[in-house]
Amino acid sequence: LNLAVLVSGSGSNLQAMLDRKAQGLLDVDFRLVLSNKADAYGLERARAAGVPALAIDHRQFPDREAFDAAMVAAIRDHGADTVALAGFMRLLTPTFLNAFPGRVLNIHPALLPSFPGARGQRDAAAYGVTIAGCTVHLVDEQMDHGPIIIQAAVPVPPGADGEALAARILTWEHRIYPQALQWLAQDRLRLDGRHVRIHGPAA
Ligand code: GRF
Repeated sequence: LNLAVLVSGSGSNLQAMLDRKAQGLLDVDFRLVLSNKADAYGLERARAAGVPALAIDHRQFPDREAFDAAMVAAIRDHGADTVALAGFMRLLTPTFLNAFPGRVLNIHPALLPSFPGARGQRDAAAYGVTIAGCTVHLVDEQMDHGPIIIQAAVPVPPGADGEALAARILTWEHRIYPQALQWLAQDRLRLDGRHVRIHGPAA
């Protein structure tokens, strides 16, 4: 599996993938880490791991389609056929999604379909849920939407604020995202209608 990881920020999910690969537990070839922000720490993590790192500033393009077309070209140039969004804060257009059909994944820090959007953990805490979590899913054209691959449930400690909850959820993101990618690498994911089925022996 030839992977491009898209980040806008810290890249701790990227790091979790790189670490899992270093442990020999993730059969992924990291071809490119791409960011819309030149100062994203995720780009430094990529360079430290010897993975090509590239920034493409979305503000240099007239519209989303033009930005997406530039990203598609860069991803293809680096030989990637699969894309993992990991804290990437831009919405993708069909121009992008149609270039990698069924092969764009995202992680969201809430139990979808609850609490989509940029502040999923905070919104869940503010709502007063007692079970929070995170979701890895295939990306479609709606934000934080598409067939679910794996979720983790995270109990909310009484009185936990959004920040504390986000930190707890993040540790589970770091477990389930590499797992989802390993299933994809092992060709164990099948789309059945809008449901993802996982084939083969349980991991
Ligand atoms: C994660 O919580 C991810 O789910 C969200 O943005 C955060 C990115 O964290 N969409 P990192 O950049 O992987 O550290």
